[in-house]
Amino acid sequence: MKLIVTKSYEESCSAAADIILQLVKNKPTAKFGFATGSTPIPIYKKMAEACKAGTADFANARTVNLDEYCGIAPNHPQSYRYFMDTNLFNNININKANTFVANGLGDVNANAAELEEKIFEGGAPDLQLLGIGNNGHIGFNEAGDHLIAPSHVETLTPSTIEANARFFASPAEVPTQAITMGMRGIMAAGQLLLVATGAGKAEAIKGLLIDDAVTTQNPATFLKLHPNAVVIIDSELAALAGVK
Ligand code: F6R
Repeated sequence: MKLIVTKSYEESCSAAADIILQLVKNKPTAKFGFATGSTPIPIYKKMAEACKAGTADFANARTVNLDEYCGIAPNHPQSYRYFMDTNLFNNININKANTFVANGLGDVNANAAELEEKIFEGGAPDLQLLGIGNNGHIGFNEAGDHLIAPSHVETLTPSTIEANARFFASPAEVPTQAITMGMRGIMAAGQLLLVATGAGKAEAIKGLLIDDAVTTQNPATFLKLHPNAVVIIDSELAALAGVK
């Protein structure tokens, strides 16, 4: 695992954007696995800026997203499809037909199976961008006594619902289930790029970077088994997690 410790979250996002922009430069048909949540927003801004400046070209890139809430429509302001459209896809020159976010409505088990197909269609993503939950979740693979390999419907833990309530009018409105890539789809990517910031992530990052254990109680620890995983954190989080 490669660790990059930056001076600030802003710098972490620049470093992550640089890796993504370099990849699409080297391979214009690159396939990306993308994430939602707060962490990647500045990364997506930097990608949009590069596109606007004419230094990046996503016209032939393809994407598949980690997850989507169950029970809300793609045009719902809190859906991950809406998040990706407004934070990234509308702001870069990607062909939206080449972007995939699972549908949270209808037969969600069938939609999870469709996500699994899309992950591997034409080959697994060249790069999977990841955030990390306070409990170490990646995608919505929640900490627990086991993890699930294929894409599936996951019941969100109370801590995840609480963490994500900030985006909704009240915690009661947060969907309790989500479709997520499983560990197989995530681990199949050519490169994993995990970005984290904030005190809430310290315990999970300690498990990832300090401890030797790989444990379902902290799903991010599976990155230790990936041959090309990059973790970017700022010095404040590094200090909190005890990373020297
Ligand atoms: C988002 C996702 C989640 C988030 C994680 C961190 O698609 O899969 O694992 O990356 O919950 O969220 P933020 O960045 O909001 O702290």
